Amino acid sequence: MYNFNYYTPTKVVFGRGTEEQVGQLVAQQGGSKVLIHYGGKSAVRSGLIDRIKASLDAQGIAHVELGGVVPNPHLGKVREGIELGKREGVDFLLAVGGGSVIDSAKAIGYGLAEPDKDVWELYAHKRKAAAHVPVGVVLTISATGSEMSNSSVITNELTGKKRSYNDDIARPRFAVMNPELTMSLPDYQTESGCSDIMMHTMERYFTNGGNMELTDAIAEGLLRTVMKNALILHSDPQNYDARAEVMWAGSLSHNGLTGCGCDGGDFACHNLEHELGGMFDVTHGAGLTAIWGSWARYVYKDCLPRFVKFAKNVMGVEGSGDEDTALKGIAALEDFFRSIGMPVSIRELGIAPTEEQILAMAQSCAEANGGKKGSAKVLYPEDMAEIYRMAR
Ligand code: NZQ
Ligand code: ZN
Repeated sequence: MYNFNYYTPTKVVFGRGTEEQVGQLVAQQGGSKVLIHYGGKSAVRSGLIDRIKASLDAQGIAHVELGGVVPNPHLGKVREGIELGKREGVDFLLAVGGGSVIDSAKAIGYGLAEPDKDVWELYAHKRKAAAHVPVGVVLTISATGSEMSNSSVITNELTGKKRSYNDDIARPRFAVMNPELTMSLPDYQTESGCSDIMMHTMERYFTNGGNMELTDAIAEGLLRTVMKNALILHSDPQNYDARAEVMWAGSLSHNGLTGCGCDGGDFACHNLEHELGGMFDVTHGAGLTAIWGSWARYVYKDCLPRFVKFAKNVMGVEGSGDEDTALKGIAALEDFFRSIGMPVSIRELGIAPTEEQILAMAQSCAEANGGKKGSAKVLYPEDMAEIYRMAR
């Protein structure tokens, strides 16, 4: 077991109708001029943005808005938000949406707090942030856990580089989570979200260092719960309890809880996916399931005890001997992904990277991570390229 810090300053306001409290929550944080940030049109169409404006108006809090955040959010929109925020004297950012909107708001928060510096320098890991304008969240999709995480992932659309920057100062001040708000999601987005949630826990579970019994029990319970409820939502998308289970799992999966005592996690799948997202603009959760099986078959021998434990405790399968059990567990999870309509190969994402593109993604992934990545097995560019090839 390793030493750890567990820091989760985000106030969670969970349940039906909680978005009505947004005005009070912003007031408690001292916000006086709010930038309401959102994505395409889902939050406008549902009337959510209007309800949020009414809640702010009721507290006498001024607001401006900026929509148009796209999935795999763009640096250009972040810069637009920083300019608008400067012009309008914004002192609080309200993200209404999913991971893309929250991450864009976090990035604007960095840019507004240090207006003379280029915000991309953070994502290029050239410096650390010294300040941040606070962010609050109204969550509309359960997936990334960004509503409680210290992470923000932005794509520089001019270079195709998708990069993350992690800093505790950007953890949201509050997260309003009403599971009903996720009922309008298309099935593919719901299930991509469930897959991403599972992956955040698995990235911390498949490691070669410092695993704790309690953390493992939380992780395994979380994975079983998400699988059960992802299946329910595949056929019954209006099921409130299933929406609620998944939503809470999403936050706990990426706020640090499922990694306490471990070595910091593997995160190779995530970083391999970020290259796919940057180059081909794929849906994050689907990109993860497309790669996972190939990653697992490439690394399992170097992390055998964890794969055996996963097969038995999460997937409920056992073979003849450890290797067979591990492989049966991997196959069982791929079957599960298929059962909820998720891809298990890159081809099923509808893209066909060339050998040249595979080499470029592997090189870029390694560069973004100081030359190597992984804990289950440390991967170098040639390993990464081989996993992309296996996943094709
Ligand atoms: O833009 P709108 O119209 O809102 O449509 C969105 C978008 O098309 C739609 N949507 C969201 N809520 C909806 C809805 N449609 C109907 N009803 C609703 N209630 O869903 C689509 C996907 O939204 P997006 O925010 O992109 O999804 P997600 O939450 O999966 O975020 C993905 C981004 O977060 C990053 C990913 O890499 C990706 O860029 N991640 C961020 C992390 C973090 N900050 O901690 C960790 C993750 O590992 C991940 O990398
Ligand atoms: Zn993720």
